[in-house]
Amino acid sequence: MTVPALLELDRVTKRLRDGARAELVAVDQVSLAILPGECHRIVGASGAGKSTLLSLAVGLVQPTEGEITFRGEVFSRARESHRSEVRRRFMGSMLQQLGLIASMSVRENLLAAERMVRAPRRDELAAYTELLQAFDLTPLLEARVQTLSGGERQRVAIVRALVGSERALFVLDEPTAHLDDKHTETLIALLSESMARGCSVIVATHDGRLSRLGTSRVLAQGRLDK
Ligand SMILES: Nc1ncnc2c1ncn2[C@@H]1O[C@H](COP(=O)(O)OP(=O)(O)OP(=O)(O)O)[C@@H](O)[C@H]1O
Ligand SMILES: [Mg+2]
Repeated sequence: MTVPALLELDRVTKRLRDGARAELVAVDQVSLAILPGECHRIVGASGAGKSTLLSLAVGLVQPTEGEITFRGEVFSRARESHRSEVRRRFMGSMLQQLGLIASMSVRENLLAAERMVRAPRRDELAAYTELLQAFDLTPLLEARVQTLSGGERQRVAIVRALVGSERALFVLDEPTAHLDDKHTETLIALLSESMARGCSVIVATHDGRLSRLGTSRVLAQGRLDK
């Protein structure tokens, strides 16, 4: 019996057009199947389309052509409210812009995300305790994000992406761009544990330290290697 893919892209194309610029094919006929427990590492030059591919995978943008299936459902054609509900519940994502609110504290950022997913009754971050410790963020909980270093911000975004027992897919865009070796090892260990439990990972990265996680796929001008 073959195991069904958790996430499947079927000839997905994304054309982008932005005012002054000529139309561009950022992702070009990409087909990709990620099985439970697998990690696909997307590598490629700056501008190759990695971040666009990840935004498609999490349903933040819709393909111009082709289909994306997640957990057996044609996800890319669902309405935005459904895509965002699926994303919040079953996906942990960290995109390149991090999506943290600079004027809020680390605690407030994490609570805001938590309320979107689970509506906790009390203002508590119990589920985050171990992750915050693992990434040395506990002493920084009350610090405003705008006062944090690049690596500290990145670790907050990683913790927010990794928390949650229902998450089946982690989508991470250059998660280690600002991380030192210690925190990179922490991330690799946590992702490996999640994969052993059947979670899947798709990570865009230039970082050779992440090659242990799984297959590398090369994206060049929107096209994925075979
Ligand atoms: N809204 C947009 N309108 C027009 N072009 C865009 C838009 N967003 C991205 N692009 C272009 O699409 C291409 C792919 O961008 P993308 O961000 O996916 O690349 P990337 O592989 O993630 O690059 P990097 O390694 O620098 O993060 C780039 O040429 C970029 O300039
Ligand atoms: Mg990018």
